Amino acid sequence: MRIDLSGRTALVTGSTQGIGAAIAAGLARAGARVAVNGRSEGSVAAAADRLRAEVPGADVVPVAADVATEEGAARVVAALPGVDVLVNNLGIFGAAPALEITDDEWRRYFEVNVLAAVRLTRAYLPGMTGRGWGRVQYIASDSAVVTPAEMIHYGMSKTALLGVSRGFAKEAAGTGVTVNAVIAGPTHTGGVEDFVYELVDRDLPWDRAQREFMRAHRPQSLIQRLIEPEEIANMVVYLASAQASATTGGALRVDGGYVDAILP
Ligand SMILES: NC(=O)c1ccc[n+]([C@@H]2O[C@H](COP(=O)([O-])OP(=O)(O)OC[C@H]3O[C@@H](n4cnc5c(N)ncnc54)[C@H](OP(=O)(O)O)[C@@H]3O)[C@@H](O)[C@H]2O)c1
Repeated sequence: MRIDLSGRTALVTGSTQGIGAAIAAGLARAGARVAVNGRSEGSVAAAADRLRAEVPGADVVPVAADVATEEGAARVVAALPGVDVLVNNLGIFGAAPALEITDDEWRRYFEVNVLAAVRLTRAYLPGMTGRGWGRVQYIASDSAVVTPAEMIHYGMSKTALLGVSRGFAKEAAGTGVTVNAVIAGPTHTGGVEDFVYELVDRDLPWDRAQREFMRAHRPQSLIQRLIEPEEIANMVVYLASAQASATTGGALRVDGGYVDAILP
């Protein structure tokens, strides 16, 4: 299967590092013009430079804006009036005891992880349906289907994204636009190595360390290692492709079998 996204413009929110950066690289490698987004001019410019170095010839559009605000989203839409592929990747997470999560924190998780994606979908979906082609995606998490006791506000936001995705897929019915959620599992992103070495023997080489970590602390994983960001990106690139035209309204798992269920 050869995926060719040349002529398509993609926006990946929160793409200066981690899974978002890998998705931006994957889409660029497939030929798309890719808008890289983060909150500061500096981080976005540096990420755009890294992407151009990683994918020679990539057409990269740096867009610095806090997409969790109305003004930030409006700035993105002004800079990029039409996109063909919208990947709502931005997401924050952090542990907090359930009874100590304040109203403001609940609101912040909803606004950053859910409302930002809803707002951008509302801005871009009419253009996609008008042109008869488009791809909207939401990066969810295993926490969408197995609520983590240590961060129920995060779990709530990811569960909400599955409903948002299914709902907008219905809105786009019959238009040539597909809308899907990707359920990512535990992934090897920045900071994760430090976290792993806090829990296993510091002298172990990385590969053995992560396997020991998974065995002891994430035993449900069927791949028994962390997922590489590129593995999430591969699913996103496929869903963005012409070949994925019959996949919409779905929640696709790239969780290494972490969620112990047949369906998501
Ligand atoms: N990591 C995992 O194991 C894992 C597992 C399952 C699902 N996920 C999901 O995957 C997605 C990406 O996670 P990640 O771990 O790769 O994230 P990350 O490393 O924390 O990166 C977050 C990105 O978002 C940007 N950002 C943060 N707030 C922003 C805002 N308000 N507006 C625009 N950009 C903003 C950051 O850039 P600046 O700092 O430059 O603004 C950065 O590029 C999230 O939705 C997460 O819930 C992650």
